[in-house]
Amino acid sequence: MKDSFDRSIDYVRIAVTDRCNLRCFYCMPANGIPYEPKKHLLSYEEIIRLLDVLGGLGFKKVRFTGGEPFLRKDFIKLLEKTVELGVYDSIHITSNGTLLQKHITRLKELGISKINLSIDSLDPERFHQITRRNDFEKVWQTFHMLVEHGFQIKLNAVIMHGINTQDIISLAELAKAYPVGVRFIEEMPFNGGYKQNIQMYSARDIHSDLKAHYPTLEKLPAKHGDTATVFQVPGYQGNLGVIAAFSRTFCNTCNRLRIASKGEIKSCLYDDGVFNIRDYMRAGVSDTELADKFREIIRLKPKDGFEAEKQRKNTMQAMKSMSSIGG
Ligand code: GTP
Ligand code: 5AD
Ligand code: SF4
Repeated sequence: MKDSFDRSIDYVRIAVTDRCNLRCFYCMPANGIPYEPKKHLLSYEEIIRLLDVLGGLGFKKVRFTGGEPFLRKDFIKLLEKTVELGVYDSIHITSNGTLLQKHITRLKELGISKINLSIDSLDPERFHQITRRNDFEKVWQTFHMLVEHGFQIKLNAVIMHGINTQDIISLAELAKAYPVGVRFIEEMPFNGGYKQNIQMYSARDIHSDLKAHYPTLEKLPAKHGDTATVFQVPGYQGNLGVIAAFSRTFCNTCNRLRIASKGEIKSCLYDDGVFNIRDYMRAGVSDTELADKFREIIRLKPKDGFEAEKQRKNTMQAMKSMSSIGG
């Protein structure tokens, strides 16, 4: 359905858990965040009900995120039920790649082939420094297994000044050898007490680095709802993307709604949660009431991430950790 800026909102991102087995420093403090008890999370039945209602409103794309979605017990069952619903053209997952190897066969059987993997460096030590865990080899192996099994993969690397800018070209070179999208993301600073001021390495900086190394870099036409500006190095199998997550240059084509792990709906990544749909459901509302609530939320979706930021009531809450929002 359309919002008041004539954008088609047809993509929902659901964070199935706030837990993660990595501790990426731009996302979580070293000792983690206090995890929610399970009963605070949306149950799988509740998620499926929401997906069904959203399907009725024309939603066609769903992405499951976390935290790390494969950490949640029986995540595969949720995927199976989502497939059974039969209303989503594409089912996507964003994962850190540490726990999904044993599920590859089942994912293939289910026809779930679109996976975004987070990988901020190809240097195991730097990977360790960023994620505070020694899991590079595991993720690298997962990447190769996914490639071998023909998954459509996008790699996400958050690029940070003084941390991993030297990884940009080695990551980009993966698009030469593999048919994957390699995406470089601007860091979004959190206000949750551990990340106040950062020296932004902007989408422009990333683009300049790419352009300097690949003078023949070509910009590809934008696709519906793309967060990334996508480029092609002629002859490369895959492509390169730059995501201006902080500069927010793509809000005019935004097509998404987010549901965080406790049922908090975010109509923009930069708002502080506009409504708790879990509490609403648990109060016993009908599907019609749920659909009406979504219509209202979509109608009120802010113009862009700057507008959303202005409307925040609780800035601290808004950006506490990406792990319960799902990126
Ligand atoms: P595709 O559906 O494959 O295009 O992926 P995606 O970019 O929607 O999802 P992914 O989970 O891979 O997100 C990658 C990064 O994009 C996230 O870490 C965010 O930094 C950024 N991002 C995603 N959606 C938004 C958004 O709505 N606003 C902003 N500012 N950044 C976003
Ligand atoms: N800024 C930008 N991207 C972030 N992610 C997590 N925290 C941040 C942040 N502060 C990314 C992860 C993952 C995606 C879901 O969100 O790297 O790829
Ligand atoms: Fe986990 Fe992703 Fe946060 Fe890293 S960015 S700690 S992988 S949820």
